[in-house]
Amino acid sequence: MSDTPKLTQRPEWIALEEHRSRPQPHLRELFAADPSRAERYTVRVGDLYIDYSKNLVTDETLRLLRDLAAATDVFGLRDAMFRGEKINITENRAVLHTALRAPRDAVIEVDGENVVPKVHAVLDKMSDFAQRVRSGEWTGHTGKRIKNVVNIGIGGSDLGPAMAYEALRAFTDRDLTVRFVSNVDGADLHEATRDLDPAETLFIVASKTFTTIETITNATSARSWLLAGLGGDEAAVAKHFVALSTNAEKVTEFGIDTANMFEFWDWVGGRYSYDSAIGLSLMIAIGPDRFREMLDGFRLVDEHFRTAPAEANAPLILGLLGIWYGNFHDAQTHAVLPYSHYLSRFTAYLQQLDMESNGKSVQREGDPVQWQTGPVVWGTPGTNGQHAYYQLIHQGTKLIPADFIGFARPVAELSDTLKAQHDLLMANFFAQTQALAFGKSAEEVRAEGVAEEQVTHRTFHGNHPTTTILATELTPSVLGQLIALYEHKVFVQGAVWNIDSFDQWGVELGKVLAKRVEPALTEGAEVPGLDPSTAALVAAYRTLRK
Ligand code: F6P
Repeated sequence: MSDTPKLTQRPEWIALEEHRSRPQPHLRELFAADPSRAERYTVRVGDLYIDYSKNLVTDETLRLLRDLAAATDVFGLRDAMFRGEKINITENRAVLHTALRAPRDAVIEVDGENVVPKVHAVLDKMSDFAQRVRSGEWTGHTGKRIKNVVNIGIGGSDLGPAMAYEALRAFTDRDLTVRFVSNVDGADLHEATRDLDPAETLFIVASKTFTTIETITNATSARSWLLAGLGGDEAAVAKHFVALSTNAEKVTEFGIDTANMFEFWDWVGGRYSYDSAIGLSLMIAIGPDRFREMLDGFRLVDEHFRTAPAEANAPLILGLLGIWYGNFHDAQTHAVLPYSHYLSRFTAYLQQLDMESNGKSVQREGDPVQWQTGPVVWGTPGTNGQHAYYQLIHQGTKLIPADFIGFARPVAELSDTLKAQHDLLMANFFAQTQALAFGKSAEEVRAEGVAEEQVTHRTFHGNHPTTTILATELTPSVLGQLIALYEHKVFVQGAVWNIDSFDQWGVELGKVLAKRVEPALTEGAEVPGLDPSTAALVAAYRTLRK
């Protein structure tokens, strides 16, 4: 056992437990008692207006939570991260996604080397390449202009650029078709390429390790598709394949010239990588200038997280609210509900960011945790969710804290008719958080003349916590701000829980077992030690597919 005091035995934790055991006022009472609550519980960061007043907290709760953050030295770990210390202890790596958006003249050292010049050298190389593709200067093997870009990657090498491409569609070059292939199910690559001309298609193979089986399998099949379409000339690969990776050796082994490789480094975690070379597909779609605006947005929130006092530090506040619900209210999940069609992949992206980071049950020193860690993160764009699962949030038996994300303006390119729908969208946005917080009492229901036997059915208890994040519009910078906000929120929680938020050993076992089972499927090979259930399923699979 380590010497670190157990989290749940810290006086600050016990104080929170005691606080929680006292009667908790309803949000209605909290607002009635404090007319300035909305104003006091709002923090502005860059373009983000974050209202956390509809959370189940008082000044005392927030103070106690901040005490816990201080006791667990969240800011100490934050500073160590920004300095480039190897805080990813199980992999002995620095955690420096913040260096990816550092200004050119910054100095951030890893093992005595300033990494910032390398970051900017790659950004410049990406910008140059993106411009050449966008302008038509970079052509395919037959001299045709590149019209299609297909990113092949999975997890952090897919979710970030795929999410951001959707988010920033209004800023993309609409003459380019950009697609993302991740699933090893051949249907994914088939659907992504079936209507494309190989002569006009660029594949971006994105893989930090360049050993991920799904990506290498899809990239190999894509190469076959390309060569079949272009008469089998191997020389075509150089004009139609580029790689994004930390592993030059494997890239070369695959047959991609390292001149066509865009590098990043082991101190960039996969799920923190989309503002590295992994964002190349996005940069081609939106252009280098917009990409850099996005990086500026990230940097703005980095600076806020690094310098804002605890009382006004948005990632700290959001992280601590999550701890309040997960550890003191037994909430198991956290919903993220964007009221923007363009953010349709946002929650899927956050699922990896949050759940791969904080889905841990061992402390940094190796002892098991005895407290809840990361929540299940879920959600879809708001109005669609309203007609699906919001019923459970409003009247079910579970506490589901939720973030509502919305924008004051629709994107500029919508027609006036479609722009006019925006107020209706946002009316729903505001109405939902209001209904969740304040509900509708039995007296109010009765006053509407509802028959007595229906009253309980139509009553809304309310008191469901939400945080509202509002911005003027969804620009590249705002997207960067939002992502950095969540990155640092996840960091805060991992720091309090004393877990390593930057490794992902939990995904390894399944990978190893898949490799072991595959020969049983393809060749009917005997797999030693296969459990009876899996063995029977494999046998059934082989029979069924005959
Ligand atoms: O799912 C495990 C994981 O290692 C993720 O962390 C990572 O984002 C993904 O696989 C893809 O890895 P790579 O970029 O090395 O192909």
